[in-house]
Amino acid sequence: MFIDTHIHLDEFKDLEEVLDRARGVGVDGFICVGYDVQSSKFSYSLSIQYNDIYAILGIHPHSASEVTNEFLNWICNVKDNRKILGIGEIGLDYYRNLSPKEIQLEAFEKQLSLAQELKLPVSLHIRDGYKDAFNILKKYKVNGVFHCYSGGLHFLEEALSLDFFIGFDGPVTFHNARELIEVVRRCPLDRILLETDAPYLAPEPYRGRRNEPAYLIYIAEKIAEIKGIDLEELSKITIENTKICFPRYAT
Ligand code: NI
Repeated sequence: MFIDTHIHLDEFKDLEEVLDRARGVGVDGFICVGYDVQSSKFSYSLSIQYNDIYAILGIHPHSASEVTNEFLNWICNVKDNRKILGIGEIGLDYYRNLSPKEIQLEAFEKQLSLAQELKLPVSLHIRDGYKDAFNILKKYKVNGVFHCYSGGLHFLEEALSLDFFIGFDGPVTFHNARELIEVVRRCPLDRILLETDAPYLAPEPYRGRRNEPAYLIYIAEKIAEIKGIDLEELSKITIENTKICFPRYAT
């Protein structure tokens, strides 16, 4: 049994088949993450409709200008639903810079402060902005996960010292993933979360094609191999980690 802790189910027109294929290989929990207003509302509605789908609500740095009071108020209105596990994906993306930096920073802080107020964990999307992210995170009492961690060995200690979990995705299976494999090696087992980020970032042997939650198994196999443990043990540990990172998952 595995939980896909980061997936964008709004991107699948064949959702039922995709979910069934995943359940068929033992992926039986899905944390559907919003990235703008529309996808957040869709994640929320899926979490109501399906027992095994949970929601994380928030605005990605690419869409930072969508962080309005209206949106934040909507989250406050639905926050008591236990299927809402956290706020995300939020963060900084200085790699693609699709929103101006000042707007990204403002959107990030507004959503962090909401997470702190609601006592909900965050799912972070950080690309090339780790220094700024750490400086900002130190101002807030929040926990969560560095989704699709890309800070390399350089930022790993600091990410762990903030008590965050580290999310690993398809790239750990890529042939050129030498540094990321070293990151997995050095990341304590009790801080690892498994995610696909589907439909993006398909693992080998599907690299370059549409990703789906059933492929979480390839990521799990690679991490179990790097850590020298069997899949069953990795399953047990990562389910426990998911419940610690997202306490509402456990209830
Ligand atoms: Ni994502």
